[in-house]
Amino acid sequence: MDKELDAYWMPFTANRQFKKNPRLLAKASGMHFWDDKGRQILDAVSGLWCVNAGHNRPKIVQAIQAQAEEMDFAPPFQMAHPKAFALASQVSALAPEGMGKVFFTNSGSESVETALKMAIAYHRARGEGSRTRLIGRERGYHGVNFGGISVGGIVANRKMFGTLLAGVDHLRHTHDLARNAFSVGQPAHGAELADDLERLVALHDASTIAAVIVEPVAGSTGVLIPPQGYLQRLREICDRHGILLIFDEVITGFGRTGRPFAAQTFGVTPDLMALAKGITNGAVPMGAVLAKDKIHDAFMSGPEHLIEFFHGYTYSAHPLACAAGLATIETYRDEGLLTRAGELQDGFAELVHALKGEPNVIDVRNIGLVAGIELTPRVDEPGKRAFEAFLDCYDKGVLVRTTGDIIALSPSLIVEPAQLEQIVETVRGALRRLK
Ligand SMILES: Cc1ncc(COP(=O)(O)O)c(C=O)c1O
Repeated sequence: MDKELDAYWMPFTANRQFKKNPRLLAKASGMHFWDDKGRQILDAVSGLWCVNAGHNRPKIVQAIQAQAEEMDFAPPFQMAHPKAFALASQVSALAPEGMGKVFFTNSGSESVETALKMAIAYHRARGEGSRTRLIGRERGYHGVNFGGISVGGIVANRKMFGTLLAGVDHLRHTHDLARNAFSVGQPAHGAELADDLERLVALHDASTIAAVIVEPVAGSTGVLIPPQGYLQRLREICDRHGILLIFDEVITGFGRTGRPFAAQTFGVTPDLMALAKGITNGAVPMGAVLAKDKIHDAFMSGPEHLIEFFHGYTYSAHPLACAAGLATIETYRDEGLLTRAGELQDGFAELVHALKGEPNVIDVRNIGLVAGIELTPRVDEPGKRAFEAFLDCYDKGVLVRTTGDIIALSPSLIVEPAQLEQIVETVRGALRRLK
């Protein structure tokens, strides 16, 4: 192995395999990366579901440069800088009605932890301190911190790390190939799976449950689209029992499903929303929690000189991130990007669903500018077929992502129809070449 590659312990990577044959990216612009040898690669996954406006957008680059020169850092505790307020206003202006408060973090994982803590502390502030239980969902991904993996439902992310948080339970996942394979958009079957929450309420009693957290579209587990009526039903059950509903919109936020947030696409407003990624177009790490006003207001009691919520990060509302965020939202607005996935979704759906019938394809699913292509796993080698498809596509100049035996596509919102075709044709070629 090259000595140069030795020290870096890579995240979520097969380190030994990678270091034998590294894939190094050197430059990016628009829909493309270039590798260290100058080869152009079409990015079919927005980097990692984050570069929603495409790479190295001039306004964002300039905003970061200007901010770095003007003020590198401002402490966020008992101090602030104007761009933090400006960005919070802009983010809440995009959100569903009533979600008027924004708490900044530095990643999706931190946004999830923040939202979970807010939910528990909110109930306590209102005198319902017994509501401490958190409900997640099987196959959910909520980042990698202890709260997130506890409510999360991806076995590999949980099993190495002991007993996790106490007082957590899970809804069943909504993946149902038998009834919903090859659904275009939202699958028809599965709204009743939301009733699982009633089962958990019957088991634990509503008075012990603080919140339910779900991804409106589960991304990392391999693109699971919510069945028609499922999220509405979950909202109704939460309301009936005084349970907060948290949407983890870390990947669905900022235009992925055709509206600024999936909450708007599906017409269901949560109480708290975890955001990250597209908030700065991936250019500077940042996350945020959007909260309903009533949640924030519940904390605003007691003497005014006291801190109301004992939580925050050194880099919350970092000036570089806020500058990037403001320029990102301006770019989204100027180019109409937050609704563009809706305009492209029918064409994209037609292309990806035409993969039905290719070798080993057992499902294709889509919404907005997201698609999942599920393959039959090889006996005794789960995940290997899709990983080989990833390597094959990369070799042919297209970057896709895989989890298990599912290929996920999530191109930037600036993607052109011809590029969507190139992406899907490259996947088709890989499927045909693979065993
Ligand atoms: C739904 C969801 N939540 C949380 C996260 C974690 O975000 P981060 O990697 O920025 O901590 C991700 C990352 O992909 C995600 O998809």
